[in-house]
Amino acid sequence: MRLHLTLISLVSCVVAQDLGVPLSWRKFNNSRPLSERITIAQNAINQMTPQLNSATGEFNGIGYWQSGNVWSVLANQDHLAGTTTNKALVVNNLNLVFSRWAHYDQFQFNDDAMWWAQAALYGYRAYGDTNLLAHAVDVWTHVTGYVITAAQASARKNPNKSFALESTCNGVTMAGGVFWRPTTDDQSVNSVTTGHVLYITLSAFLAEYTKNATYTNAAILSANWIKSHNINANNLVLDTVNAFDCSTSPATWLFTYNSGKYIEGLSVLAAVTGDASWNTLMINILNAAVKTTAWEGSDGIITEGVSTTSNNDGVGFKAIFIRGIHEAWTRNPNNSALRILIHSYGDVQILTCDSTTLFSTLLRMAARIPSNWHGPPQAFTSWGQLAALDVLTSNIDTN
Ligand SMILES: *[C@@H]1O[C@H](CO)[C@@H](O)[C@H](O)[C@H]1NC(C)=O
Ligand SMILES: *[C@@H]1O[C@H](CO)[C@@H](O)[C@H](O)[C@H]1NC(C)=O
Ligand SMILES: *[C@@H]1O[C@H](CO)[C@@H](O)[C@H](O)[C@H]1NC(C)=O
Ligand SMILES: *[C@@H]1O[C@H](CO)[C@@H](O)[C@H](O)[C@H]1NC(C)=O
Repeated sequence: MRLHLTLISLVSCVVAQDLGVPLSWRKFNNSRPLSERITIAQNAINQMTPQLNSATGEFNGIGYWQSGNVWSVLANQDHLAGTTTNKALVVNNLNLVFSRWAHYDQFQFNDDAMWWAQAALYGYRAYGDTNLLAHAVDVWTHVTGYVITAAQASARKNPNKSFALESTCNGVTMAGGVFWRPTTDDQSVNSVTTGHVLYITLSAFLAEYTKNATYTNAAILSANWIKSHNINANNLVLDTVNAFDCSTSPATWLFTYNSGKYIEGLSVLAAVTGDASWNTLMINILNAAVKTTAWEGSDGIITEGVSTTSNNDGVGFKAIFIRGIHEAWTRNPNNSALRILIHSYGDVQILTCDSTTLFSTLLRMAARIPSNWHGPPQAFTSWGQLAALDVLTSNIDTN
């Protein structure tokens, strides 16, 4: 059963989507004022920053790509709160890490490099620092060597790869696919690389900031690749396609951030191009992603990446998902049904935990959040904190 919180007429331009909020979701609204939401989110950040290793620009207890995402949320916190509280840390450390690793590519993974480039772009958005924009352009240019162009798909050859590509998979061109790794023999083209930063989100943001059509066209090419190759029948974004033999990751490999990063990229691409079809696609995926049983129960709380005893990648995925749907919220001010859905989903995760249990006390006192959003409370972990930061910062806007 769905609760319709808005007038149908408001969404009639968005095809026949039922954007209603499931009534089974846990408490999906609250009356915390803006100033309190800003404080809660910054307090949570302040629990994380003591974990910084100032020699490396990375954080104890989490991986390299996850550390990049901490810088993202610090920049976004300032952007949304209208503060500069985190500016020096963000700018100095994004510069430090860029100077340590060419193209931000410490481990020869294009997606790692792009998580950091994305952080640099958010830093540019928050502070207008043009060095950060230049870092993002550098990574974009580097990874562009690993994007399959239309000509390469036809010729079955990418200059940075040692094997013959498939021109098409299931009858659709492989143009726009992005290789996961720069190593010459790695064959994976995964949608986190594509959907995520480079060819959709990075490109779309760069197009917006520079008005350079090269980035717009790149974003469109890769957005089309995802649309044609990598969305399942339930409107969720899949993981990997192998460019050598068209084999794919198992259908059960469903991760929040693949859909989340695509949602973010399409939100920006729709704004940059004025092409509403990207927004329609985005809303279909978002509506599916917040209601799927793949990663949440009927209460709406994300169960992906629950790991109380050690870090894992998935704990970082759900933060990126929430950040992605926040971008959809900011880009669709007139779509009330969509905004209520995003607001409700965001609130359900952490902010409205009921006062007798888990988070309310934590939020007020220590701002330490466990990786399991059903609780129970536990001692601070870097990975649990990482997962929560984007939720609390996004809630500044969406609540
Ligand atoms: C939450 O939503 C319900 C249903 O619309 C409403 O009755 C209630 O007043 C709302 N609570 C807050 C705190 O906004
Ligand atoms: C990838 O290919 C492009 C185009 O030939 C080239 O400019 C670039 O240097 C290559 N990158 C690497 C790391 O070899
Ligand atoms: C547009 O961006 C591309 C890729 O970075 C660059 O090669 C080109 O010089 C840019 N064009 C202009 C007019 O700045
Ligand atoms: C929202 O609606 C207002 C008033 O009709 C309009 O001026 C504005 O351009 C719309 N914004 C978007 C992003 O569609």
